[in-house]
Amino acid sequence: MTVAQDRAWRELWPSLGIENGAESIDFAAAFGRDAPVTLEIGFGNGESLVALACANHDRNYLGLEVHPPGVGHLLLRCEAEQLHNVRVVCDDAVQVLQHRIADESLDELLLYFPDPWPKKRHHKRRIVQPAFVELVARKLKPGGILRMATDWQPYAEHMLATAGACAALQNQAATGAYVDRPDSRPVTRFEKRGQRLGHGVWDLAFSRRG
Ligand SMILES: C[S@@+](CC[C@H](N)C(=O)[O-])C[C@H]1O[C@@H](n2cnc3c(N)ncnc32)[C@H](O)[C@@H]1O
Repeated sequence: MTVAQDRAWRELWPSLGIENGAESIDFAAAFGRDAPVTLEIGFGNGESLVALACANHDRNYLGLEVHPPGVGHLLLRCEAEQLHNVRVVCDDAVQVLQHRIADESLDELLLYFPDPWPKKRHHKRRIVQPAFVELVARKLKPGGILRMATDWQPYAEHMLATAGACAALQNQAATGAYVDRPDSRPVTRFEKRGQRLGHGVWDLAFSRRG
């Protein structure tokens, strides 16, 4: 953790952080207002969350990330941009989704460039699994959107098959496969790294059936 990230944890976490615990997160209380909620899982250093929160002051953004320096980085960016519509939890996203997020409470869930775990013996570590997709579908409001992106084609195919097999979700792609890159998705550090390595990028969008 850098000195600045350490300061962010001490000075900014008390107002922007949501402490770990077991109780359900009350969005209206956490954000101090009612507004549509976008949740981002594994935001890294928060580039996409900050860009989206800057562009959409009328929405609330909740970030879930396990890596404390990344959380510190996000807190610093929120301070620099004077953002009031971002809150953060530093905990395992699956646990938080299971125990702390109410069913049918999310307008949008973002999963951008999750760890691809390319080796076959590590595939079980991938966050996108049938049970995870069912969980996400339960947390989305009817009409809510799950957006995913990856620069690893086998993971894109796995995401497509897994989300496609969830009866509660409907693929937003006209082709039934991938969507065009949404204008709203900012380029992150991981995407730039993929570009340098010559990787493609696959975007997926699924809506929760009503
Ligand atoms: C490959 S990075 C991508 C970061 C960011 N989305 C981007 O595009 O730059 C994956 C991130 O997911 C986080 N992560 C992995 N598993 C997680 C989990 N179960 N809960 C929350 N964050 C997680 C990691 O700490 C890491 O920051």
